[in-house]
Amino acid sequence: MANIEILRILGRAIARRDHDTGSHDTRVTLYAVGIAEAVGVDDRTMRHLIMGAFLHDVGKIAVPDRILLKAGPLSPEEWAVMKRHVASGVEILTRCQGCGWLRDAIEVVKFHHERFDGTGYPAGCMALVIPLNARIFAIADVFDALTSKRPYRERNPFSRVMQEMHAQRNRHFDPHLFDAFGEVARELYDRYADERDDILDRDLNKVIARYFADDAVGGPISGCVAAPGYAPRSLAATGGLG
Ligand SMILES: [Fe+2]
Repeated sequence: MANIEILRILGRAIARRDHDTGSHDTRVTLYAVGIAEAVGVDDRTMRHLIMGAFLHDVGKIAVPDRILLKAGPLSPEEWAVMKRHVASGVEILTRCQGCGWLRDAIEVVKFHHERFDGTGYPAGCMALVIPLNARIFAIADVFDALTSKRPYRERNPFSRVMQEMHAQRNRHFDPHLFDAFGEVARELYDRYADERDDILDRDLNKVIARYFADDAVGGPISGCVAAPGYAPRSLAATGGLG
């Protein structure tokens, strides 16, 4: 359990540095776990997903405050620097000799800004080339961004969030995973979108106890694997990209 607690603390520290994210690190993990449970991933994949969710933006440590905390829109040059947080995150995870267990988080860290239609960054990977955990996390990350309160706006109503996200089915999001998410989205919204931090922490503790009871982090890095029962349709069968 010790390793995952370290990652959790580190993830929280990173999220606190990013302004107006509140309990983003906790909520996005709970959302990702909720989607993964709806899809039916195995426990090992789930552990990697949770670790990746905690550390997804670890590379933002390398982004200067003047860019990370900038109130206005970023210039193209500033965006280029911001996008480098993915490569920085991968470097952080892979540089440490003897920290092989840390690399279990790499699927999410490396691919969390890729999009199903190949328009994401940094590599422009598409469809099932993007690891399953990163495709799950992408949905959770956007869901939290759209359902969180911001200093300049109230929380979006659930129906508007789902309408907006549905427009990205087959574009940003894996359509199969998005459909599974659609089955649990209302419940996740009602449980967590407006919940107190201590309740979110309590539920996250339960998730950690459930999946890390044996401190079972480690093992080889998995590639692009589908969950049991996951039967990806071809892009043509799902209506193409866009
Ligand atoms: Fe990111």
